[in-house]
Amino acid sequence: MPEFKTYLQAGYPALYVQTLEPSRAIATLSQQVVEAQGISFVWDLQNGVVTQSNGEKIPNQADPNAALQCFSDFPENAVLFVWNFHHFLHSIEIIQAIQNGLDDWKSKGQCLVVLAPEVKIPVELERVFTLMEFELPDREALQSIFSDVAASAALPMPEETGRILDAAKGLTTFEAENAFALSALDSKPFSVSTISSQKAQMVKKNASIDILESCDRFETLGGLAQLKTFALQIAPSPLARGLLLLGVPGCGKSHFAKALGGELDVPTLSLDFGRLFGSLVGQSEARIRQALAVADAMAPCVLMIDEIDKGLSGTGSSPQSDGGVGSRIFGAFLTWLNDHTSQVFVVATTNNISQLPAEFLRAERWDGIFFVDLPTREEREAILKIHAVTYGITLSDLPDMSAWSGAEIKSLCRISAMAGTTLKEAARYVVPLSRSMGEKLKTLRDWAKSRTIPASIPAMPERTRKIAARITEN
Ligand SMILES: Nc1ncnc2c1ncn2[C@@H]1O[C@H](COP(=O)(O)OP(=O)(O)O)[C@@H](O)[C@H]1O
Ligand SMILES: [Mg+2]
Repeated sequence: MPEFKTYLQAGYPALYVQTLEPSRAIATLSQQVVEAQGISFVWDLQNGVVTQSNGEKIPNQADPNAALQCFSDFPENAVLFVWNFHHFLHSIEIIQAIQNGLDDWKSKGQCLVVLAPEVKIPVELERVFTLMEFELPDREALQSIFSDVAASAALPMPEETGRILDAAKGLTTFEAENAFALSALDSKPFSVSTISSQKAQMVKKNASIDILESCDRFETLGGLAQLKTFALQIAPSPLARGLLLLGVPGCGKSHFAKALGGELDVPTLSLDFGRLFGSLVGQSEARIRQALAVADAMAPCVLMIDEIDKGLSGTGSSPQSDGGVGSRIFGAFLTWLNDHTSQVFVVATTNNISQLPAEFLRAERWDGIFFVDLPTREEREAILKIHAVTYGITLSDLPDMSAWSGAEIKSLCRISAMAGTTLKEAARYVVPLSRSMGEKLKTLRDWAKSRTIPASIPAMPERTRKIAARITEN
């Protein structure tokens, strides 16, 4: 993307700069205005128009429309930075003033620069503005903020400076200054965890994304060996994108997604597609972009999108039902999944492929599409052991649990613990879902057979298993 200065030199009359830090953006960009032989003015609703170099106020220009009118009387190569102007951009007076002013500004080499945290341009002006992004402070900038804070607290730079700067990535200058200052007051100054917890606030402020506090590990999840091994192998690679888990309900897909973060020792974020819908049309698209930007900033992390099909079911996204918001959200997500360079490893789960758009299931979208089937016999034993320990029950008098899911084995243990009965007695109160799922399960398996990778190491056929057992016994 060309530099800001280049746009000015090329005579662009209207730029839209997306930034969370308007004042830092103005300070940085106005230097480029000087380099391009221009002169900067800044408008905000309270102060009106101010000459950037000397702070001189131009009287009576607090009204946004008046500010645009007077801009036309400015000298050649003037640049007017307007702050919070996106709130006025949709009024007809402003739209007209920009449309009318444009040719004049262009002929004089002037440029109107809107600074806003999100892109909200009325359709009449969509082709008028050129979009630019003003990036958050980079590592070097964070380092200089950090050393300023350390110096003013009269503390030496800690050995862990590198990790502290990593943890602060994604914060604005203002947030980073505050987080560094707060961590300077730690009993052992500058702990990484203080900065990480400040950063977690960024997630909490985003309505469609959560940070999962509990960090289970793989030892709490029985079976799924092939999936576990593959995920651990690829997730640390900068090339990794993520996995799609398809499967039978209650077999550990969500549990896997939550435990992967614990296993990799990175935070797990959860993005709820369902919550992205139901809001105003344009907003949901802006929201997914914001949510993904938060995930980028939290990297390295695992991003779980549980029951991704739920986002679409019920809306049956189409131009008729919801103006195609569903497909556009999915589109925005898939583009990000393809292009993102941050260490965000996505784990999406679904029980229902029929709700998902076909492009979603294309194998090259993901590093792997895994099928999580009912646990094999060995896996059932492992799952039973895990939950028997959790609920403190002894393993004797076992019921037949073939075609049971992990969730059902867990609930068996819980019932047995609550009722104080043997597992066999408790089994009367568990009705395995697979019994009622018969035909559906077959369709799912057939679909999965040729398109997905089994999450478990395939079970040995019963006869082979018996022979193998006899050999090991001898
Ligand atoms: N393989 C497993 N090992 C241990 N617990 C399991 C396993 N599969 C399912 N469970 C338990 O069953 C419950 C439901 O599992 P979940 O991961 O939500 O299933 P899914 O997302 O596949 O529908 C969880 O509490 C989980 O701990
Ligand atoms: Mg689930």
